[in-house]
Amino acid sequence: MKGGVGKTTVAVNLAAGLGAHGCRTLLIDTDPQGNVGHSLQVDGEFTVGDLMLGHASLESVIVPEVRENLDVIPATTECFGLEQQLSATMQRETILSRALDSDAITATYDAIVLDTSPSMNLLTFNALLFADRAIIPVSMNLMAVIGARETLSGIEEVQRLWPERGLEVAAILPTFVDPRTRATRATQDALDQDPSIRRYLAQGIRQCLDLTYAAAKHTTIWEYAPRSRAAEDFSTLLNAIETDNNVQLKVAANA
Ligand SMILES: Nc1ncnc2c1ncn2[C@@H]1O[C@H](COP(=O)(O)OP(=O)(O)O)[C@@H](O)[C@H]1O
Ligand SMILES: [Mg+2]
Repeated sequence: MKGGVGKTTVAVNLAAGLGAHGCRTLLIDTDPQGNVGHSLQVDGEFTVGDLMLGHASLESVIVPEVRENLDVIPATTECFGLEQQLSATMQRETILSRALDSDAITATYDAIVLDTSPSMNLLTFNALLFADRAIIPVSMNLMAVIGARETLSGIEEVQRLWPERGLEVAAILPTFVDPRTRATRATQDALDQDPSIRRYLAQGIRQCLDLTYAAAKHTTIWEYAPRSRAAEDFSTLLNAIETDNNVQLKVAANA
C-alpha cells in the first residue's frame, strides 16, 4: 500500500531468479504503471487488462521467453481504465483467477509471480484472489510500516470474504535496509513491536544502488551485478522460498 518500497524490484528479480534456477515462471504485472515491462524491456501487444476484458486470449497476452524460463504478462497505463470498464461485470474480483484457470497454465508453469500496485483496487483484489501467498516489502521508514499494516488488513479482508482461497502472508520483507541508519533501526523496532507483523523475514534486501541501475538498464540484478550485495540478498530470499514452501520465516519475537 505504498509506492517505492521495492515491490516491482522484488517481483522482477525473484521471478528472474526462479527462472534461472530452472523453475518455469510467469510474471504478471497488475500495476497499470507497467513497471515490469520497463524493467525487463517487454513489448507485448496486449496487457493483463485485455485478458480481463476478454479482448485477447491467454496465449496472446503472454510474452514468451523474456528471460530463461520466464514469460511475462505486461500491464500499461491503459489498465488504469479497467475499474470503470468492468464496473458492471459480476464477480469482477475473480476475473483474473478465472482467466488463468487453465490446464495450459498448470502444465506450463511451476511458479507465478504477480507485481501489484500501491492501492487496494480491482486489479490488486484480482491478484490477491489468484495468489496463494503474499510477500509484503516494507522499506525502512515508518510510513512504509503504516502501508504494510494497511496491506495486512486488506489481506485479512480477502481471507474473511474468500476463506476458500487460502491466501497466506508468506513474508514481510524489509527493503532498503541500511543498518547504519537510525531510520532502519527505528523501522525494525516498529516491525518487531507490532503484534500484527508476524511473518517478518529478518534478513531483507539491503539498500543497493545497483538495483536502480539494473532497472534503468532494463536488466535484472542477476545480469547487471551478480556479485552485488543485492544479488546476495535476493539469493537468500530465493533460497528461503525454494527450500521451504512456507518460506523460512523468522517469526518476530512477540508473535
Ligand atoms: N534495496 C534497494 N536499494 C536501492 N534501491 C532500490 C532497492 N529496491 C528498489 N530500489 C529502487 O527504488 C525504486 C522504487 O522501487 P520499486 O521496486 O519500483 O518500488 P514499488 O514497485 O514498490 O513502487 C526503483 O528505482 C528501484 O530500482
Ligand atoms: Mg511497482
